[in-house]
Amino acid sequence: DWTMASYREEAVQKIREQVGDKQVICALSGGVDSSVAAVLIHEAIGEQLTCVFVDHGLLRMNEAEEVVGMFRDHYNLPLIHADETELFLGKLEGVSDPETKRKIIGGLFIDVFQKYANEIEGAEFLAQGTLYPDVIESVSFSGGPSVTIKSHHNVGGLPEKMGLKLVEPLRALFKDEVRALGRELGLPDHFIGRHPFPGPGLAIRCPGEITREKLEILRKADAVYIDQIRKHGLYDEIWQAFVAILPVRTVGVMGDGRTYDFACALRAVTSVDGMTADYYPFSHEFLGETATRIINEVKGINRVTYDVTSKPPGTIEWE
Ligand code: XMP
Repeated sequence: DWTMASYREEAVQKIREQVGDKQVICALSGGVDSSVAAVLIHEAIGEQLTCVFVDHGLLRMNEAEEVVGMFRDHYNLPLIHADETELFLGKLEGVSDPETKRKIIGGLFIDVFQKYANEIEGAEFLAQGTLYPDVIESVSFSGGPSVTIKSHHNVGGLPEKMGLKLVEPLRALFKDEVRALGRELGLPDHFIGRHPFPGPGLAIRCPGEITREKLEILRKADAVYIDQIRKHGLYDEIWQAFVAILPVRTVGVMGDGRTYDFACALRAVTSVDGMTADYYPFSHEFLGETATRIINEVKGINRVTYDVTSKPPGTIEWE
């Protein structure tokens, strides 16, 4: 794509001019925006960039390993894997209110990022994967151009507090252009086409109290569900798909025994921008096969339901 090739060249040039010989830090979430920003900036300034991947222990199966593996080993990008699972899960213990969960996670995310960033000698810049739609929204939102409204991976307010200047090489781009740039930079297709994943992660797919047991079960069920969707070639037709583990145990029967395990809900929606959404019309065959697989393969779940709520009146996530 010649447009993206020249965008890439110009962006690299601009980043070099802006940064000079100074250090840049970047909160890498593994999402498309922060990933493309990081790879582009790394191409421009190499070792002057350090990324911090904050692992809150609320990621999907193998997610941390995949993200860290790809950026550290494949792209050779200086990356700190901040495994703060104990901290986050500790502070979330006994918390069941959705907004309280978000506040706790958002606050800790900033603390943790700041802690690691402070250890990076001479950092003067903070890189963010802010897109053009974020810029427009934040202008009407806050009156200032440099604050994104994205939930917790947004480190809004932090640059000022830490005395950092912003590097935002994607500010002129829309989402589909970021994907094109990502391809141009050699990011794998399956990575660029990934469904959005919320900052608070599995916390908001585990309505009620979060426990390690529930998270373990949820990760396994979600992996089976996504595997089913990929095997049936449906992944790219769907905006977002995931499992929520419900805070209720139900009675079942398996072999010659009674079970008393968690129920879960499958969610899949189509959408253009996440603002409105329709539930995805899976075939009964697909749903039945998926339910059977989850119950057979995931210890701890004995009932599978499908969420047929559109947005509005529902939201995409369960919390
Ligand atoms: P809802 O559930 O509001 O979700 O219909 C719309 C889109 O936003 C994502 N989402 C979040 N993303 N922090 C995020 O970074 C959050 O707190 C959050 N809540 C929802 C959701 O996954 C969907 O793509």
